[in-house]
Amino acid sequence: MHLPQLLSHRFLVALDSLPNTQSIDDLQSYASMIRSTNDPKFGDYQANCAMPLSKQIGGGNPRDLAAQIVEKLAVDDLCEPVEIAGPGFINLKLRDRFLLDKLRRMLGDERCLIRKATETKKIIVDFSSPNVAKPMHVGHIRSTVIGDALARILKFLGHETITDNHLGDWGTQFGIIIYGYKHFGDPDQVAKNPVPELAKLYRLVNQLIEYQKAKKSIAKLKAAIEQAKSDVASACTAADAVAAPKDAKKAKKRVESAKGRVKAAESQLTEAEEKIAAVDRDAEMSAKAKQHCDVDTAVLEETVKLHQGDAQNLQLWEQFLPHCKDEINRIYDALNVTFDHTLGESFYHPMLAGVVEDLEARGLARDSEGAVCVFLDGFDAPMIVRKKDGAFLYATTDLATLAYRREQFSPDEILYVVDSRQGEHFDKLFAVAKQIGMQDVKMVHVNFGTVLGEDGRPMKTRSGTLIGLEGLLQDAIARAREVVCDPDRITKLDPPMNETEQDEVANVVGIGAIKYADLSHHRTSDYRFSLDKMVALEGNTSAYVQYSYARTQGILRRAETSEEEVVSIAESVDSFSHPAERALAICLLRMEESLATVYQDYAPNALVDYLYETAKAYAVFNDNCHVLKAESEAIASLRLALVALTGRCLRLGLNLLGINVVPRM
Ligand code: ARG
Repeated sequence: MHLPQLLSHRFLVALDSLPNTQSIDDLQSYASMIRSTNDPKFGDYQANCAMPLSKQIGGGNPRDLAAQIVEKLAVDDLCEPVEIAGPGFINLKLRDRFLLDKLRRMLGDERCLIRKATETKKIIVDFSSPNVAKPMHVGHIRSTVIGDALARILKFLGHETITDNHLGDWGTQFGIIIYGYKHFGDPDQVAKNPVPELAKLYRLVNQLIEYQKAKKSIAKLKAAIEQAKSDVASACTAADAVAAPKDAKKAKKRVESAKGRVKAAESQLTEAEEKIAAVDRDAEMSAKAKQHCDVDTAVLEETVKLHQGDAQNLQLWEQFLPHCKDEINRIYDALNVTFDHTLGESFYHPMLAGVVEDLEARGLARDSEGAVCVFLDGFDAPMIVRKKDGAFLYATTDLATLAYRREQFSPDEILYVVDSRQGEHFDKLFAVAKQIGMQDVKMVHVNFGTVLGEDGRPMKTRSGTLIGLEGLLQDAIARAREVVCDPDRITKLDPPMNETEQDEVANVVGIGAIKYADLSHHRTSDYRFSLDKMVALEGNTSAYVQYSYARTQGILRRAETSEEEVVSIAESVDSFSHPAERALAICLLRMEESLATVYQDYAPNALVDYLYETAKAYAVFNDNCHVLKAESEAIASLRLALVALTGRCLRLGLNLLGINVVPRM
């Protein structure tokens, strides 16, 4: 049980025994109002229930209620005498003895006292899931890294996790490379060097498609700009005419929003014009664009032919797919990410017709202008499950996947770690799932924001394509090497670091940097990708936490011991000798709390915050508390235990994020 849970149990008993709380049925939610404090002067935790509760039971002074609660509260074994502050905050300071007892127990526990869930859930984590015919780009980091961290954490918490990489191995991207191969491919080159050649073909055809799309969009965008400009004008006129200040605010907002639309449409226009210009100024490309002016429909036709079993397209798909998979597997190896299953979209193809029939038989899907659709309450557009031309869609595949997963695994939860932009797709999918009897399965779109470049715009190369993931990982490793294997640093090490160790350290820090930077932001926010910042040794970075870990190991080495050998704290120790020891001890005991938050919100950044706080507390401890030259042997034993446990907690936490550590750096 983590500390706030433990305290809230005691509060529940106290609240329950008050005469005036009998009518309240959600006492637990009041008892759970336990927050950690930012200032030690208010104790370690603060219970905030007295204020809202006194309102709920019909007024009275919350401070008096706090006093009544405290009178009933039995926490002597855990806390110093409890204090009431301000309007009725109850300040709780944990007893040193209690903390020390926990530390002693933690020494014998690899899991850092984090218990497994008593109610085990079966949880499918659908993550990474790239469309494989195109090279993985920077955007794929997020799903891969967040999904992997969640799966590791849930498993550690005792749940049965099943990871599945729902590869896009059957969609339009294959139509694109098949078209590219047929029209521009050199079979010898592709046979010799499949991955880069196919990537080239993909980029070429995609650029042609984007070019055609851009050309078609120009007139529309120009009209949209004109419209938005005229909206600005009329909004301005309206704004000039209003008299009341409250209306003026609204009117001003309308002007701003219209101006925003002008700007957005203008930047879309610029982007489209840039795409067109890039092709036009390249004689070869512009000749190709003229010859392949219907490339977008032609690509769709190739995809349809593949799905209908066309022998040549199927043969090409079978030829290309393994190479595409090799490509992504190299990245998974570099990232140290694995999956229990890799069931791509192609796996479900034979089931799609059945899915549509089933929906029709249940009366959920019906014909609409030739297409088959599921109409759902609360949505503007229906979910299309079969197009007029007979083609199935992404949604149809996801429905088949659901049915298969239910059959095969009977999960309690399914997490879809997918870009926020697919929100509507998942809202509809979950709505249909309810109607086909899956209301008991908790389905969550674990959505996430965009990776931005340092300029705050989506990260792209100069030619406009998204930055490739493989190159990025290599860059990160190279940058990490410059920072952590700087000759000034490593010559100080004894013995000096040889090349092999340097490679290992650069790799662990570089890959860790990318993962940590991603996980350190709440998943739903966008973040700016900055290699320099993420490999820095200072600040909220993996290098900082990994370095803190290495420092713990350095001290253990100098003390000629190891983590396993530190098994006890001298019995005479019943209090801390320095506030930095105590602050670090509290941090160490809070990992379970952070993991509970991760699970609650499916957001690994809570664990990152925990690690950063712990590393900082360790730095303060290191600056203030000598281990090897401690005042007494008893104090030395406490400090050594804190060092060993800090190492254990940091390593465990990083590993749960999919990040490795090295013994020195
Ligand atoms: N392949 C999809 C894409 O790249 C993501 C798939 C996510 N998983 C799912 N079951 N829909 O957009």
